[in-house]
Amino acid sequence: MTQPLWTDIDQYITGKLVPDDPVLAAVLAANAAAGLPAHDVAPNQGKLLYLLARLMGARRILEIGTLGGYSTLWLARALPPGGRLTTLEENPHHAAMARLNFGRAGAAEMVDLREGPALETLPALATEGAGPFDLIFIDADKPNNPRYLKWALSLARPGSLIIGDNVIREGGILDEASADPRIQGVRRFIDLISAEPRLEATALQTVGVKGHDGFVIAMVSGQAVDNEPARKL
Ligand code: SAH
Ligand code: DHB
Ligand code: MG
Repeated sequence: MTQPLWTDIDQYITGKLVPDDPVLAAVLAANAAAGLPAHDVAPNQGKLLYLLARLMGARRILEIGTLGGYSTLWLARALPPGGRLTTLEENPHHAAMARLNFGRAGAAEMVDLREGPALETLPALATEGAGPFDLIFIDADKPNNPRYLKWALSLARPGSLIIGDNVIREGGILDEASADPRIQGVRRFIDLISAEPRLEATALQTVGVKGHDGFVIAMVSGQAVDNEPARKL
């Protein structure tokens, strides 16, 4: 099982189930032409984010790590009228491309892009009384994932969904002695989720056009009374 097969299968799935979308295709082409790294979620992963947001009727979404706005647009498309998405991006070049793309997609109205290090824009959001957010997608600098988890919890409500990208890294996650701060950040992130009584979580490995990686998906259960794990059948 190798990359060419994963790629062929992703293309098969996307061909059948993720219809060609000229706006999203133009976004990816513009990002590549502008030299942005191809770190966007894959199309079938973007559709998963969209479906999860639809499923829970998300009206307020927070994304940490915008890049060119590809995942942002998938999530924004799940919003009902009046819904809003806040997305945080540190890199001015990425933020400028994302703004262009939101305009191109007709999404500028519903997306609030905050430029700057997320560890500065998150406290500002909290001070403003933003949120609670129904869905929070964590996909920025992985060494800060433990800090992002704490902010996500404080900006969430019982029932919110917290999703983290890139938690497998071709198996790098298993290397407890890794010198890579991204691996250490993701390992601590998983440990914190594991130890957090307010979260019920799982993680899924993915293979496909973006290689071997994965998502962690956690639901905030909130109040003590609400905190029982799913009842056994
Ligand atoms: N969610 C995007 C991909 C994000 S790539 C998608 O799937 O389409 C990660 C992004 O996080 C990059 O654009 C990077 O510039 C940004 N980033 C890195 N460190 C950051 C920080 N401290 N604060 C905010 N954004 C950051
Ligand atoms: C990287 C970051 C991402 O968010 C991603 O989806 C893939 C790769 C990276 O920094 O290498
Ligand atoms: Mg990612």
